[in-house]
Formats: sequence, structure tokens, C-alpha cells
Amino acid sequence: MVCYHQPHEGGGGLRVLLTAERGTEGLLASDIKGVGDKIIPSPFSFSGRVLLEGVDERGLLKLLYTQPLYHKAALVLEVAEIPATREALDACYLVARQSEIPHILSPSLSFGVRSVRKGNHPFTSQEVAAYAGAGVIDGCRAKRGFRPRVNLSDPDLLVVADVCHSTLILGVELVGLEGLHRRGWRVYTHPAGIKSTLANALLKVAGFENEALWDPMCGSGTICIEAAHRAIGLAPGYFKRESFLFLRSGILSPSLWREVTEESDSRIKWDLTTSITGSDRVLRHIEGARANAESALVKDKVSFHHLPLRDFSDTRVETIVTNPPYGIRLSGPKGARRSLEELFTKAASLKDLKSLVLIHPDAETVGDIASKYGFCLDKAIAAYNGNLEVFIFKIAPSPSGR
Ligand SMILES: C[S@@+](CC[C@H](N)C(=O)[O-])C[C@H]1O[C@@H](n2cnc3c(N)ncnc32)[C@H](O)[C@@H]1O
Repeated sequence: MVCYHQPHEGGGGLRVLLTAERGTEGLLASDIKGVGDKIIPSPFSFSGRVLLEGVDERGLLKLLYTQPLYHKAALVLEVAEIPATREALDACYLVARQSEIPHILSPSLSFGVRSVRKGNHPFTSQEVAAYAGAGVIDGCRAKRGFRPRVNLSDPDLLVVADVCHSTLILGVELVGLEGLHRRGWRVYTHPAGIKSTLANALLKVAGFENEALWDPMCGSGTICIEAAHRAIGLAPGYFKRESFLFLRSGILSPSLWREVTEESDSRIKWDLTTSITGSDRVLRHIEGARANAESALVKDKVSFHHLPLRDFSDTRVETIVTNPPYGIRLSGPKGARRSLEELFTKAASLKDLKSLVLIHPDAETVGDIASKYGFCLDKAIAAYNGNLEVFIFKIAPSPSGR
């Protein structure tokens, strides 16, 4: 039996399911407080999903353009309880068939279905997608009198059919097949680069506004470039504003989108003075970081230097935000430990330093080295970097230790 949840209290507004890097849901939820009437991290906790209810169209478009932590966003049309058996697939079919989706489609629009599944089920996510897709096709034929075109690689309308334990969420993707962690400015890719969204999570943990920031192991410059965008108010959607997927189906208003994006762009502080520095011991990465900064329109906001971090001589740094090697892809565990030792040795010599935020999988090693150099752990957030379990650490100089 399919049992629909009632629309949320108050009944008005849109519901949107945001996807982020796993473990950053709490940061995302606190960032979007006040956008809708209700934020529901559960039952999706630690699956990188946050459900936001009661948001108006302008608020949603502003969020899509300016929110730096999310990858994808689906406009939620149905939330249904489904059985734990294979009958759940019939429920997925029915929910899709009876949903608004057949009314959104037209003969000129193609569609595809994507499904992500969390929990133990006697079916696969591919089966969920296939059944939901069949429901959409049959709904269209019965109610609209045409068979919609299917295009899985580049659909005009991407239907989302996510199953989390016993809950099916059916919606329509607003960003695209590719998430907004790919901002659209990158011209150089580091072999162990961090996603822009995760870089932003680190900057949020650091409380970065426009303090003197240094990333001593900057690689392709992601953290510095995202910091510069944050400081001047350049929206994360800036480079992709013409290609958000909802523009192809018109499910949200393209003219309101233009208003919202132009309004945001008009407030970019192109003349702001910043003090954002990146350095790395590998010349190729520094050249790549400079090319990225140019492509991201912030080459005058960030300076990049080719040097080992121990040779950095600017002592006015207030915040360090960095993504050191983990000892997995680039250097072995010994090399990774050496980089951390160097980092804390240098950090201990910076008199204005207020906080150091870093992402690393090895909590014990980071804790040991931090305390050895007179730092104390302020916060540790368990998260994922792709499929790797990591922690986002906020570390402060301990008042007695320096
Ligand atoms: C995980 S990567 C950083 C990737 C970067 N966040 C990005 O998005 O491209 C770590 C970087 O640290 C650099 N590195 C490691 N130890 C260093 C040291 N002692 N001094 C300077 N750079 C170092 C490496 O060359 C590498 O580019």
C-alpha cells in the first residue's frame, strides 16, 4: 500500500531535497536556516541530504544560486512510505505515474530517472529508476496522450527517485546531471584536489569572512579561490547560471532566475582588498592554481607562491585552511606526517594566527602533532571526502601553549 505523507504544516511553499558531501549536512542546515519554514536532516542524517520545506520560489532560486555547500537540489513532488519487500517497486511505479511529472513533460522534452538508495532492500537503485520511469511513461500516455522520450545521458527533465530506508522521495533535479561542486571555473585539475563544496565547508568551520588567509598546501588553489568568491560575494552558481537544468523544462521561472542572479551579481565587491595566499612545493600545481584563479575571475584577489611551507615568510596570517596530503594518493604515511609536522611548526610561529582548519582522515596523528606544538582541538566533524572517511578539524593555539 502506498501511503502519502500529508503536505507539511501550513501547506504552502516548495519542498527541496539538497545533496551535499556526507557529514556536512549539519553545516548546510545551519547555513540555510531561515530560508524555508522547516529543515529536516532526518531520516537522511549522514547521507548528505537535507530536506527543506516551505520555501518560496524566489527564496529557492536565491538558494540555488548562492548556497556554497550543496551539490544537487531536487524539487520534491512526492514523499511516500514504501514496503520493505519487492512490492516497493510497484509503489515506486504508482507514485511516479500518479505524480505531477506527466503534466510537466511535453512531447518536446526528454526525461531520465536517477535513483540513490540508502538502507538494505531486496531491490537495486536501477530497478527503482526503471519502475519509476515506467510509471512516468504510462502516466503520460494515459493522461496526456503521448509517450515521452527517454534520454538517460542528457535529459531535459531529470526525475529523482531516492529511497532512504522505507521512504521514497520523488522529485525533479534542478541543477543538472553534474552537481554544483563542479563550479565551472576549473581549467587545471589536481590529482588529489578537494571539491569546491568541501573547501567551502572548511571555510565555514573557520568562520572565514575576509581575514588574512593562507593555504600552505594549496595544490590547484580550490580553497583560496572559494575563499575569494566568498569574500567578494561571487555566487557559486555564477559560472553555470545559464545551464541549470530547470531552465530546460521551465519548472521554475527563468525570468525570476534572471532577476535573482542579476541582483546577486550586482552586489559583487569587485574592488574589495583581500589577503588570501596559497603556496605549494610543486610548481605545476601553482601554475595550475594561477590559471584556475584567472578563469574564476579572482586572479587579483589571491596570490600563489611556489615554495615548501617552511619557507613562507608572511607572518600576518590569521587563518590557515588547508587540505594536506593523507598519505594515500600522493605521498606515503611518513611523507604525510612530515607535512603535518611542518605545518604545525610553521603555524606555531605565526603570532596573529587565530585558527587552523584542516581535513584529514587520521584523528590520532593530527591530535598528537597539534598538542605537541601547543595547539588544542576546538572541533572535529566526521565527514567524507568522496568515499574516504575524514574529519574536519578546527584547531586553535592553546593560550598556555605558546
Ligand atoms: C591534497 S593536495 C591539496 C589539493 C588542493 N586542496 C586542491 O584542491 O587542489 C596536498 C598538496 O600539498 C602539497 N604539499 C605537501 N607537503 C608540502 C609542504 N611541506 N610544503 C608545500 N606543499 C606541500 C602537495 O604538493 C600537494 O599539492
